[in-house]
Amino acid sequence: MADKKGEKIPRHIAIIMDGNGRWAKKRLLPRGAGHRAGMNRMIGLAEHVFDCGVSYCTLFALSTENLSRPQEELEGLFSLFREYFPANTERLKKKSIRLRVIGDRALLPPDIVGLIAEGEAYTADGTRGTLALAIGYGGRQDILAAVNEAVRRGREVTMEEFSALLATGDMPEPDLLIRTGKELRISNFLLWQAAYSELYFTDVLFPDFSDKELDKAIEAFGRRERRYGKL
Ligand code: IPE
Ligand code: IPE
Ligand code: MG
Repeated sequence: MADKKGEKIPRHIAIIMDGNGRWAKKRLLPRGAGHRAGMNRMIGLAEHVFDCGVSYCTLFALSTENLSRPQEELEGLFSLFREYFPANTERLKKKSIRLRVIGDRALLPPDIVGLIAEGEAYTADGTRGTLALAIGYGGRQDILAAVNEAVRRGREVTMEEFSALLATGDMPEPDLLIRTGKELRISNFLLWQAAYSELYFTDVLFPDFSDKELDKAIEAFGRRERRYGKL
């Protein structure tokens, strides 16, 4: 954990970006408008996270289960991705933030996989922090893939070795896990990695989750006492 102005800053923040659809519904807009508003918010929020001194940020953008949503919604999401991804990658590069994408790429359209590979390569030398975007990601799928890899290795693995086999293998575990959009659940996000994350739930819908709201979450984190089961 870093320390900024005497405040406890999480080293890794993970965010379940939920509530885009309800944000649109409240405004009598189609769900896609909510996804666009969410996309508009995402990059600015990510930049603010790193400005706060956080080194790793994982954003849950699309779960494995979300891929069973109607084709029209998925097409809309992928179109937004195609539209926003290049400019956002450029912004990350300028800020020296390394992008990586976690999730099963076999589930994504090939051109999106191409954009991801380009974005990762383009930002690979970023030293200020790592932004992991979870797309087509599921916590159970992540664990299962790691188990299968361990089985292929043909021997038992330690806890550390197992953690390293997960999609987030080279990242520390999240210190703070935030969920926007009112629901009080993990929805198959970082199941193994969040074992000792501090949880922060807010009713604020993701497109409205401002820099100030993030600051509130970090402040709340600063007041938590992490015991890890010890006295
Ligand atoms: C989160 O917003 C973004 C994705 C899961 C793609 P939702 O689309 O789940 O929004 P709500 O929960 O319906 O409001
Ligand atoms: C969780 O939101 C996944 C993402 C935000 C990417 P969902 O909207 O899919 O979660 P549920 O269906 O409410 O559990
Ligand atoms: Mg939702």
